[in-house]
Amino acid sequence: MKAIRCVNYGAPSSLVLEETDDPAPKPGQVVIETLAAGLGYVDALLVAGLYQVKTPLPFVPGSEVAGKVIALGEGVADALMGKRVMALSPSGALAEKTALPAAACIPVPDVMSAEAAAGFIVSYCTALYGFETCGHLAAGETVLVLGAAGGVGMAAIDVAKAMGATVIAAASSETKRNAAKAAGADFTIDYTKNEWRAELEPLTGRRDVDLVYDPVGGDISETAFRCLAPGGRHLVIGFAAGAIPRIPLNLPLLKRSSIVGVDWGGYIRANPADNVPLLKTLTAMASEGRIHPEPSASYPLTEAPAVLQRLLDRESVGKPVITFSR
Ligand SMILES: NC(=O)c1ccc[n+]([C@@H]2O[C@H](COP(=O)([O-])OP(=O)(O)OC[C@H]3O[C@@H](n4cnc5c(N)ncnc54)[C@H](OP(=O)(O)O)[C@@H]3O)[C@@H](O)[C@H]2O)c1
Repeated sequence: MKAIRCVNYGAPSSLVLEETDDPAPKPGQVVIETLAAGLGYVDALLVAGLYQVKTPLPFVPGSEVAGKVIALGEGVADALMGKRVMALSPSGALAEKTALPAAACIPVPDVMSAEAAAGFIVSYCTALYGFETCGHLAAGETVLVLGAAGGVGMAAIDVAKAMGATVIAAASSETKRNAAKAAGADFTIDYTKNEWRAELEPLTGRRDVDLVYDPVGGDISETAFRCLAPGGRHLVIGFAAGAIPRIPLNLPLLKRSSIVGVDWGGYIRANPADNVPLLKTLTAMASEGRIHPEPSASYPLTEAPAVLQRLLDRESVGKPVITFSR
């Protein structure tokens, strides 16, 4: 089978496409024939060896996968054979086949394509966990989503709208703002402009927002925090801009607002059982048409390094997915 391997941490161009042996399932595992793999900024950081958790070398990148079960390990129920499933895995998605714990495999709802399923788990679970468990988002509140046209940002728009929020999407280019609008944002804002805060009131009739969803970091975070209304919540999702902001502690006091860390990955590592109800809620929302997980674009496996480079270069729009042709 074909697989992309990371043999040294570095730029996506250092990844190698190789022929390797098919995996065999260990007890409790299934082997899936990969239909699609979702990619995000985290995957590019993992390849660079710059993420908070380092994957031991060599490894096959890609942590979000959808595929068809083609082999069962000892102890796995026969009913899983042939099923379309999606899974989150530390690595291994950029391969034509991959072995996974059966317990990690979730059935793909009929309404969802394999591409949509492969791009679904990380960004949508982070959004629902972030808004519901960490941010206590209530219907009628206003949310400012930063980096709104990224994979994580687009899912946040979709989930916040489904929860009854008004969504302001902040992005750096017209193309990205149009993509955020198409994903359901009520308003868009160019947060690369000086004084972009002044544009909130003409847009929404309010000078402030109830929640900030922040996967960007850098200088923009403090300005966004200053947009919060009393009782506001700034959800810290990630630092795609590179720099980790240092917000003065008098600001939460003066704004009577909170900074809340949203580490969905860490949360489910500590409470693995809690992700099942979260995913059930999300797949039900997708089946009912309340959320609309769709990848922005699909690429062949050979394009995966270029897709990862575009994420690092701030050129990616939406959630990119790799599809496997046979
Ligand atoms: N907390 C969690 O559980 C969790 C889960 C998944 C991902 N994350 C984090 O979420 C962040 C976003 O991931 P993603 O997959 O959505 O990435 P993405 O698709 O690349 O989106 C990130 C967005 O950040 C903005 N950005 C600003 N400065 C940037 C820079 N120097 N380089 C790249 N992007 C920049 C870009 O929007 P503009 O050009 O419009 O500014 C871009 O669209 C990452 O930091 C990731 O680690 C956290």
